[in-house]
Amino acid sequence: MSDPTTIAAPRPRAAVVRMAPYSPPTAGRAGKLRLDFNENTVGCSPQVVEYLKEHLAASELAIYPEYMETRNTLASFLGVAPDELLLTNGTDEAIQVLMNTYVDDGDDVLLLRPSYAMYRFYTELAGGSIREIDYRSEDLAFPLDELLRAIRPATRAVLLANPNNPTGTGVSLRGIEQILDHAGHAAVLVDEAYFDFSRVTALGLVHERPNLFVSRTFSKVYGMAAMRCGCLLSQSENVDFLHKAQSPYSVNALAAIAVRAAVRDTAYVENYVKEVLAARELLYGGLRKLGIRYYPSEANFVLFFAGARAVFLRDELRSRGVLVRDRSDEIAGSVRVTVGTCAQVRRFLDELKELW
Ligand SMILES: Cc1ncc(COP(=O)(O)O)c(C=O)c1O
Repeated sequence: MSDPTTIAAPRPRAAVVRMAPYSPPTAGRAGKLRLDFNENTVGCSPQVVEYLKEHLAASELAIYPEYMETRNTLASFLGVAPDELLLTNGTDEAIQVLMNTYVDDGDDVLLLRPSYAMYRFYTELAGGSIREIDYRSEDLAFPLDELLRAIRPATRAVLLANPNNPTGTGVSLRGIEQILDHAGHAAVLVDEAYFDFSRVTALGLVHERPNLFVSRTFSKVYGMAAMRCGCLLSQSENVDFLHKAQSPYSVNALAAIAVRAAVRDTAYVENYVKEVLAARELLYGGLRKLGIRYYPSEANFVLFFAGARAVFLRDELRSRGVLVRDRSDEIAGSVRVTVGTCAQVRRFLDELKELW
């Protein structure tokens, strides 16, 4: 037996040692106007809460989750077959499972910059070798030609968000088809977390495109970020492999139950989207009046330019109870604000006016 005082702590994998710690600034948000994480700012449908209450029995909580009913409900809602859908613990697990299934140490992975931080996180964790293509600096447009040129025969994965966070800009379906054509040996993820605002989807291409993976989430427009539920859609042969790389009970039973009620209340989501689109126009108008530059967005958030005052604005707004995200580390001087209801946008603009 070894003497415990001579045993060193185990050395983590090199990929983990190389990673920078990631901790999202999610503490102390309760009671504030949360315009910092692109969530639904009024909460989920009351029908979801009612349905959850109906199912909250001790006997149900004692059983390991069963997913068949949820998978069937979601598949029919999205217009795919149940075996083309993997239920996931948020988009984050969808990305992780995709990486675990397709990316080995040192594999070439293409990301865009700036984009959703978890693409880099899970690629690094898998030991993938990242190359990043910049969004166009003049208008934050999707750099389609640059991405197509960067794809190599050895590229194993291409991860993109449509529309993208934090730029708010999107890529056309034609563009996605070109990417799929060029990246014949890669798994191409189209993350549609903000689909309900843009209405552009690659889902219709799944049947003809074996290298396409589309993800959806219940964290945004559905107002269920705390539940951690999403899904990954692809051809059934791919989904079989994804299943093998996923832990069998990663989505908790309450989340699986809740999404069944969420997709039934389509009116709730439609009304919320309408409100956000109207509020986004209000926000554009308010920013223009103040002479603040912004980029038109296809999602429920807008990136605007505060220059050297970005951090000051974020901190001052926070002290007034309004949360926004400073994105200057990715695009100099930029601040991202989530679009909520018209009343919430008015409140934000009132505070901004006083500080600007
Ligand atoms: C592009 C994108 N994808 C996915 C998510 C959310 O992921 P999840 O479904 O894990 O909550 C976000 C949240 O900020 C996002 O911006």
